[in-house]
Amino acid sequence: MKLSSLLKNKTLASGLPSFAYTDEEFWQMECATVLTDNWTFVGFAHELNKPGDVLPVLIAGKPVLLVKNIKEDIVAFHNVCRHRCLKLVDQPKNVGKIIRCPYHSWAYDLDGKLCASPLFGGTDKHQPPDFNPADYGLESVRIKVWHDWIFINLNDIAPPFEEYAAPLMKQLNDIKFDKFYPVATLEFEQISTNWKFLIENYIEPYHVQFVHDKTTNQPLKNHYTIVDGRCLGSGVDLSDENTSSDKLSVSSKYLSLFPNFILGTYFPGQLGVHLNQSLGPDCTSQKRVIYTSEGYELTKVDIDNQKKLWWEVHKEDHEICERLQLGRASPVSDKGGVLSPHWEKNVREFQKLVIESVMEYSKTQKEKIYV
Ligand SMILES: [Fe+2]
Repeated sequence: MKLSSLLKNKTLASGLPSFAYTDEEFWQMECATVLTDNWTFVGFAHELNKPGDVLPVLIAGKPVLLVKNIKEDIVAFHNVCRHRCLKLVDQPKNVGKIIRCPYHSWAYDLDGKLCASPLFGGTDKHQPPDFNPADYGLESVRIKVWHDWIFINLNDIAPPFEEYAAPLMKQLNDIKFDKFYPVATLEFEQISTNWKFLIENYIEPYHVQFVHDKTTNQPLKNHYTIVDGRCLGSGVDLSDENTSSDKLSVSSKYLSLFPNFILGTYFPGQLGVHLNQSLGPDCTSQKRVIYTSEGYELTKVDIDNQKKLWWEVHKEDHEICERLQLGRASPVSDKGGVLSPHWEKNVREFQKLVIESVMEYSKTQKEKIYV
């Protein structure tokens, strides 16, 4: 199947063929386009507390370093020393005022400026002729911190973030972000599935009544889909909410910002945000931070209950996403299945955004195998 055929308007559209979820080569194309041309979500600002805190992340297979500088701004660099391109920082820590390469002790300040290249020019000589340290600072990466969420645009071609994320911001108009803070983190770690399955599953409401029968009480008939440019998702409006139930039984929105940002609004004053980090065609790591907003105070019992509920809900999703991946070994999956024109039109739009990104790149390659 050629990807271009999936862009044609049809009442019953096929999903992406299996190679889009299994091929190493296709994943590399996504790393060169979808995950780097766009504003990709990479981390949580609250994990960088004070100047000198550094957080290495892997995005589209590339090492990037998030740094809190002296002015307490979060900045981003390619995480490699400019001398021999060693991966500079390999774990979260506080480095004080200097990021030092362990190999030959080249040192950078928190704004990436090269401060020391010891003995690089010879005995007792740090700078050889024609060496200008200003040419060898850490290479910066375009970054935007929006509320607690850190986005980067590695290829530096996305529109300004405010324009890019405007459809999502519109969905969150009612949230009071001045009374908003994280209360818990769920570390799901690695899931044996392609990153797109986690997004597609999150935004479509069709599966909720079947997969989450034990953990939610949100009838399908109360759901609607959201398709607005790069903001794709769904929502559910319940006239009879139950905030004390063990099941999720309140009005909610399940939103995404292309490519990998996921945000849910639940209960009075609760948000959940997932970090989805694609590590390969069939491996994605995920964690979820739970926030309270609107000034609602949560007790430890409330927080523990929320952690338990969301752990169970997402484990149900992960099992499904891993089985979606396993299904891609069947030749039947080459035809991509079929999407509901009503409940999965957001999935269709998500897949079109993926195809459009990848096709642009594929056209410039010699082998147009996917186009
Ligand atoms: Fe789900």
